[in-house]
Amino acid sequence: MGKWNKIPRIHDLIKQRRIQTFVETGTGRGNGVRAALDHGFKRIYSAEKFKKAANLAKQLFSPHKNVLIVEGCSEDFLNNLLPLLDENPIFFWLDAHFPGEFHGVKRSACENERIRSPIKYELEIIFKERKKYGFQDIIAIDDLRMFNKSFRLFKQKLVTTELWEIKAMIPKGMTCTQYKQDHGYILIHSTPKKIML
Ligand SMILES: C[S@@+](CC[C@H](N)C(=O)[O-])C[C@H]1O[C@@H](n2cnc3c(N)ncnc32)[C@H](O)[C@@H]1O
Repeated sequence: MGKWNKIPRIHDLIKQRRIQTFVETGTGRGNGVRAALDHGFKRIYSAEKFKKAANLAKQLFSPHKNVLIVEGCSEDFLNNLLPLLDENPIFFWLDAHFPGEFHGVKRSACENERIRSPIKYELEIIFKERKKYGFQDIIAIDDLRMFNKSFRLFKQKLVTTELWEIKAMIPKGMTCTQYKQDHGYILIHSTPKKIML
């Protein structure tokens, strides 16, 4: 499991772009939200499909009025939330996969591929909804290793998206950088002319 705050120079990048809003898919144990609070984001939104994990996170972050934890799948969450947000840019941390994996649920238990490994559906919504803001957002994706045909979970058909499919979705004006540390990260951002990496 990766941590968005371990991505090289990510804090500087977010500060440079004056990003105040954090949107996460897959709350898990809440480490991403905790790091977002520590960073100082003004608004923090996170979705968790697994009821028990969502309830624990709601309880954990209830003292923080700027944190909204939503129980539900990431597609519904993004479809409902993004039309309501008019801030620009936003930092996205896409880390949803395998509902209940921290609660002893088998990765194969979720039969719905859109929920089990939703990355391409999430990106589809983000690019559609954020087009009007000129694609100035920063999108970080965890677990680069998963999007590779030779990876164990890919061979087991538990993950079905390859890196080239993600790259093929990236709109003009944005590019992607890959980082190898931990299990690997993908960072999608506006072209290097506009952003200093
Ligand atoms: C790797 S953990 C997230 C860790 C967390 N983002 C962090 O930085 O500490 C993945 C979480 O995504 C949740 N999940 C799986 N599929 C989901 C989906 N389609 N929508 C929302 N959450 C999902 C799982 O239940 C699990 O808690």
